[in-house]
Amino acid sequence: MRYPEGFKFGVATSSAQVEGCGLDGGRGPSIWDAFALRPGAVKDGATPGKNACDSYRLFDVDLWNMEDLGVNAYRMSISWGRVLPQGTGQLNQAGVDYYRRCFEKLLSAGIAPNVTLYHWDLPQALEDRGGWVNRDSVRWFQDYADLMFRLYGDIVPTWVTVNEPIATYVGYGLGAFAPGYTNKRWGNQARHNVMTASGAGVEAFRSSGAKGEIGVVIDIWKRVPLTDAPEDLALAMDEDEENWKFYTDRLLGTGYSPYILDKFEKEGTLMDMQDEDFRLTDLPIDFYGMNYYNTVPVSVKKQREAASGGNFAEDRRVSHPEKLSEVLKMIIKMYGLNIPVYITENGFGHAGEETADLATGIIQDDDRIEYLKGALSSVESLLRDGIDIRGYYLWTLMDNFEWGAGNTYKYGLLHTDFDTLRRTWKKSAYWYRDYINSARGK
Ligand code: NOJ
Repeated sequence: MRYPEGFKFGVATSSAQVEGCGLDGGRGPSIWDAFALRPGAVKDGATPGKNACDSYRLFDVDLWNMEDLGVNAYRMSISWGRVLPQGTGQLNQAGVDYYRRCFEKLLSAGIAPNVTLYHWDLPQALEDRGGWVNRDSVRWFQDYADLMFRLYGDIVPTWVTVNEPIATYVGYGLGAFAPGYTNKRWGNQARHNVMTASGAGVEAFRSSGAKGEIGVVIDIWKRVPLTDAPEDLALAMDEDEENWKFYTDRLLGTGYSPYILDKFEKEGTLMDMQDEDFRLTDLPIDFYGMNYYNTVPVSVKKQREAASGGNFAEDRRVSHPEKLSEVLKMIIKMYGLNIPVYITENGFGHAGEETADLATGIIQDDDRIEYLKGALSSVESLLRDGIDIRGYYLWTLMDNFEWGAGNTYKYGLLHTDFDTLRRTWKKSAYWYRDYINSARGK
């Protein structure tokens, strides 16, 4: 299918997952640097400093690969601690210069940066002051966002405040992500505050005079009850509420649902809220960014077929890329959404090493290609139905630091050798390049 003129075909990464190079260039440590040092927190003891892709040093290599892929957009994030090692206060000029160089190089290659301000790597210095559980985090984030808009607002066309705010809940409430607490009350406060911070970021954007557009990225892992039994329907409903509606109800709808407020109240985990918090998230945004990977089958009796929505699950055996369109249509209908949409992440993960085929020397990741075909035909059908999708960002350019899974879970179009840091094209990379070409009518 021929895509609309200007449609963005991109790849996505994030700072903590690809920059590597330890604390080089004066980066202040993030909660993920600290969390990864805890025994057992990350598979094989991998850390963002040692086991990412060293893009801080090898950005040009990544850029060449992107040019060869033919993408016209790159979704990346700023490491808060690289520009503000303490989270607030003194700027780190080397970090500031680094991102400006990245943006300029991308733009001169015809690749539009889509820049996320918060992709999970909170400066540890701020965690030491209470992190996202502390309401001051809203002001810390707003000040940081304001600085970024003033530094780069002249050249960055697309901004995202926060990526997948559920990560704060997983970090403070469930303990599987940094900073690794298992306190549901804190988890709820943290996820409430990160949403408020996102709104404060939008406010800063409007008053900074930056050009461009700003949106928020929320991942949707729609629950599908395996049977019609009332307990399965109830479970699916409850998990939808906890895992994505908490965020979308507030951002795209009219506020938290009575169900979730009531549930938290009964549990004694209800967060502190102020009217001001909701004023901030009610500020209009320019687009909604949806991350879509899969749906999640749930049932009380049968063993769960998939782990609860997160970012890494070895047991998510069945993929439903084609449900992307159904899920987006559900969101549009649910909230009467009438702003443009980007698919800010979509991709296929593989547990364990993928090895090259001896005959061709290439990783034959046909399963990934099949998945991508399904997802992109879903995007095509949405466009045919007149839905205003402006872009698609494939997760991810290259195998990288996959959070708790370390280097053991692979999402890349390119394989990364974590000893030599060499990036090698998999079959899916060639496939994506060809798909983009034909979508542009070349
Ligand atoms: C969502 C997250 O934004 C990203 O950081 C992660 O690597 C991918 N999903 C894959 O799990």
